[in-house]
Amino acid sequence: MTAPVLLLLGRGKDAGSERGVDCPGELPAASDPDLVERAKAAKAALGDRVFVLGHHYQRDEVIQFADVTGDSFKLAKEAAARPDAEFIVFCGVHFMAESADILTSEAQQVVLPDLAAGCSMADMAVLSQVEQAWDVLEDLGIAQNTVPVTYMNSSADIKGFVGRNKGVVCTSSNAKRALTWAFEQGEKVLFLPDQHLGRNTAVLEMGFTLEDCVLYDPHKPQGGLTDEQLRNAKVILWRGHCSVHGRFTLECVNDVREKVPGVNVLVHPECRHEVVTAADYVGSTEYIIKKLEAAEPGSKWAIGTELNLVRRLANEHADKQVMFLDKTVCYCSTMNRIDLPHLVWALEELVAGRVPNVITVDRDTAHYAKVALDQMLALP
Ligand code: 13P
Ligand code: SF4
Repeated sequence: MTAPVLLLLGRGKDAGSERGVDCPGELPAASDPDLVERAKAAKAALGDRVFVLGHHYQRDEVIQFADVTGDSFKLAKEAAARPDAEFIVFCGVHFMAESADILTSEAQQVVLPDLAAGCSMADMAVLSQVEQAWDVLEDLGIAQNTVPVTYMNSSADIKGFVGRNKGVVCTSSNAKRALTWAFEQGEKVLFLPDQHLGRNTAVLEMGFTLEDCVLYDPHKPQGGLTDEQLRNAKVILWRGHCSVHGRFTLECVNDVREKVPGVNVLVHPECRHEVVTAADYVGSTEYIIKKLEAAEPGSKWAIGTELNLVRRLANEHADKQVMFLDKTVCYCSTMNRIDLPHLVWALEELVAGRVPNVITVDRDTAHYAKVALDQMLALP
């Protein structure tokens, strides 16, 4: 059965378009009937010189051209494991392409088909704010016992800060391992930028209490916290969140349980704490896919993550009942920026000997960001 999802949303205005990041070249028309053939031909012409990575939230029209699909952890590893590809075309968002640039050699170039493909969560932690917060911890004499941990969904600057301060990067598939490692190095963690992943991991997977966690608001003096709150906290959560996963509420979970008896609720850990607490299963995009693959025919699944992935799962698992957890639908508008015209344009530019939309991270930032990324890749 196909999922009862409503496919209503087009490409909304997003942070990227507000920044005025337009395609610098001649974009093929979305109505061009030859787009698929053009993408195939360009990829064939480039052969092993190009490697296309596709995040699970990408559109079907794009994902069909990915050499590898994955969650952000898998894609980071795949980028690092392709030293022979001259060009990595990253069908995902900006922070993922930055990480790929950091993990690949100087001879390789990472291309993001649309520079407006950012991430609103990553934008919620700006280096100057994080440095200010660290100064607060230093003034209180607690910075030396605090280990910074940043979610992959953060800019290279923030990863660089974390590497400089002996911390680690994590993704939604290894957050528990990263936090366990961090608590072996120090007494407290500063978790950036997703409060929900940090709280859900600390409380639901590691036995901390909600009182062990405090929320640091970068827009308030001293994060809106007292000296005592900061001193007593075990986990200092940055006030950042994903606007897509933030849509799922406890009401959505209760509603679907009432309407679909026997349903399994499966959500991403970027969802709010009360949603994750009420769900049956929680995990990264890769985990969600594997869970569906292993599910019994006839089983029912309400999934709380981005719609492109849920719709694909619904189509691939016609023997199961797969539905979107929210009543209305929501794509990640920045992930959706990468469409077939942008991919065709990027590939054809490469064929023509021009390298478009190269993502580069400056050397110093890349060095320290790599320290934090390598620490993640070395986690047991
Ligand atoms: P994954 O690491 O699970 O792929 O998630 C990335 C992401 O952006 C989720 O919003
Ligand atoms: Fe960022 Fe959320 Fe989109 Fe993931 S789904 S890329 S966290 S805005």
